[in-house]
Amino acid sequence: MLHELNEAKTYIQERISTSPEIGIVLGTGLGNLADQVEVSEVIPYTEIPHFPQSTVEGHDGKLVFGTIQGKQVMLMKGRFHYYEGYTMQQVVFPIRVMHLLGAHSLVVSNASGGMNANFEIGDIMVIDDHINLQPDNPLRGPNIDELGPRFPDMSETYYKPWVEWALEIGTELGLNLKRGVYVSVPGPNFETPAEYLFLGRIGGDAVGMSTVPEVLAATHMGMRCFGISVITDLGVDGKIIAVTHEEVQAVAQESEKHVAAVVTRLIGRMESH
Ligand code: HPA
Repeated sequence: MLHELNEAKTYIQERISTSPEIGIVLGTGLGNLADQVEVSEVIPYTEIPHFPQSTVEGHDGKLVFGTIQGKQVMLMKGRFHYYEGYTMQQVVFPIRVMHLLGAHSLVVSNASGGMNANFEIGDIMVIDDHINLQPDNPLRGPNIDELGPRFPDMSETYYKPWVEWALEIGTELGLNLKRGVYVSVPGPNFETPAEYLFLGRIGGDAVGMSTVPEVLAATHMGMRCFGISVITDLGVDGKIIAVTHEEVQAVAQESEKHVAAVVTRLIGRMESH
């Protein structure tokens, strides 16, 4: 695995002129965050050795390199979900490559269903913690000691100063940002009413099918993480209606410019290492 990661890293390194500080994963409907980047290089996943390939035809699958607010960034346009059939090792492969290329921070965005009764559709939630209900873990199996420890600490998985800064930035921008706990489930189905109720009762504010594997791999490698989620539908008693992928995408697209504004400003404030 380490050998494959290093081959991917070496291939990319030969094509880029700088070293990314911050890795960014763009979730459902949030792909246009890439417009914030002053692009220096674009590399399709298909050209990178050992990189997982997008299953959905016409789905974006590329790494975008450049700067946001003067910081060197590397964006994944098109991410990999466990429900698509990838192994957890494949899901986190790009995150590990980001780190080998020099990224010390990870920014992740996603779409989710809200269980918190104070949430409305279109709200944006800063993730301040998570609950992992995915059936597998990318860190399972022999530990790759070169990447991180066998038993990684998770006591501050979402770097607290960034959570606070993002909320401040939200206020500055006149956005009523929410904060909360993201529960990650395997999908691909959305939840039944009983499941939303359960996920809320165990302490979740929103539920989605991504993010946690990437954050686990990043935390293992000592990266600081920031996560932000668009509430695209509600799993709140009395407000549950049928939900489609198209609606999820439409709501995420609607909130995208706000997410982009928060993330851009936050990156501007992040300290360089
Ligand atoms: N459940 C799971 N994943 C999701 C949801 C949801 O309600 N909305 C967007 N992604």
